[in-house]
Amino acid sequence: MKVDVLLGLQWGDEGKGKVVDFLAPKYDVVARFQGGPNAGHTLEFDGHKHVLHQIPSGIFRENIKNIIGNGVVLDPVVFKKEIEALAKFNIDLKKNLYISKKTQLILPSHKLLDAAYEKAKGKNKIGSTLKGIGPSYQDKVARNGLRVGDILAPGFEARYGNLVAKHVNTLKHYDFEYDLAEAEAPFLDAIEFLKGFKLTNSEYLVNQSIKSSKSVLAEGAQGSLLDIDFGSYPYVTSSSTMAAGACTGLGVAPRNIGEVFGIFKAYCTRVGGGPFPTELFDDTGEEMQKEGNEFGATTGRPRRCGWLDLPALKYAIMINGVSQLFMMKADVLSIFEELKICTHYKMGDGTLTEEMPFQLMDEEITPVYKTMKGWHTDVRNVKSYDALPLELKDYITFIEKETGVPITIVSVGPDRTETVLR
Ligand code: GDP
Ligand code: IMO
Ligand code: MG
Repeated sequence: MKVDVLLGLQWGDEGKGKVVDFLAPKYDVVARFQGGPNAGHTLEFDGHKHVLHQIPSGIFRENIKNIIGNGVVLDPVVFKKEIEALAKFNIDLKKNLYISKKTQLILPSHKLLDAAYEKAKGKNKIGSTLKGIGPSYQDKVARNGLRVGDILAPGFEARYGNLVAKHVNTLKHYDFEYDLAEAEAPFLDAIEFLKGFKLTNSEYLVNQSIKSSKSVLAEGAQGSLLDIDFGSYPYVTSSSTMAAGACTGLGVAPRNIGEVFGIFKAYCTRVGGGPFPTELFDDTGEEMQKEGNEFGATTGRPRRCGWLDLPALKYAIMINGVSQLFMMKADVLSIFEELKICTHYKMGDGTLTEEMPFQLMDEEITPVYKTMKGWHTDVRNVKSYDALPLELKDYITFIEKETGVPITIVSVGPDRTETVLR
């Protein structure tokens, strides 16, 4: 069977964790292919709320293999904490969790570099989660990185020491104070802990699954507008967040990709710096933030909010080859009598465009909106598509017409059960 990919089409936090958990029973394998502890994927069911950072969101479903793929950057300390937090839920993690030996490690010194780089950027800082993502991918590409498989080989501590020495050297060029010694013992302890898990060549596991008609779901982190190539560079993350990233991040051939599920919020949010054409700075934005509980699952930072941006959504659909759309958080818009959707950008010279400009930041962009009547009624208990209010169906139909892609799931609340299948 082919590998289905599920990914965020905006600036992250679209609700990927919720939907992966919802869909997981249909799959034999759930695999993360990029990102790392910068991700925060929230799952809610049976009165519990879980936030996963590096562990795939299929972990709560029985008999599913969960893979942390080679494209991920893994912080062993965060990993140990995540595993310990799951201990009381009786999940057989040693049986169901596989970690690629090719997964890059995040060292404590990567986190220091992340913070030093951000500090040096001053008011132009990216707004990184400071989890060491950028510096770890930097070492990967520069061919200096340490990988999960390396921890099993003799001499790991010496190689670790060499890489840290390089980082310490770099840090000398930054006006940045730090205490590395404090972080090293927990890191080495977490490395020992990691050795107790299934460290494998996970590309074999994925491809054997494909061959033996097992179903695989690749779980994206972040979102397309944070992609290293196609996002709002340089205000992006350091990995390929797109469908193509699932190929390199798991070892899957492009012809083995099946459905591409694109997730978007019925509005937009962004956390951290960078351009956001439809951002609201008024009461409406504040109400959206409050109603949507828009605070980061990883850092707790407030998320910036704004109306749905169709040029950006269409762009993300195009570069990912999205075959089905899932619309999240429809319930949040229930508070508004009137809704807006950005259909075009008006550029500084007065021209209208539906295309993403090269540099969103430098361009003077005014969003052009279509106003729609809101449904203005509680939808959280709605269980079938037919029972959704007419205005919500109009909203959905409009987006489908504009994008040419069907919306097959409408999410009306954070809980697993608050999901309308079409
Ligand atoms: P992810 O990073 O894409 O997995 O998304 P996050 O977990 O960071 O953020 C999504 C937030 O919205 C979480 O708090 C979810 O519990 C919540 N959520 C997901 N779907 C819905 C929905 O349909 N309605 C509401 N109100 N909340 C939702
Ligand atoms: P999930 O998987 C939302 C943002 C950060 C910052 C930029 C770079 O939960 O959707 P990084 O730490 O990667 O160097 O930060 O990207 N960012 C996210 N925003 N959701 C995420 O993940 C994010 N991961 C990173 O806020 O602007
Ligand atoms: Mg998140």
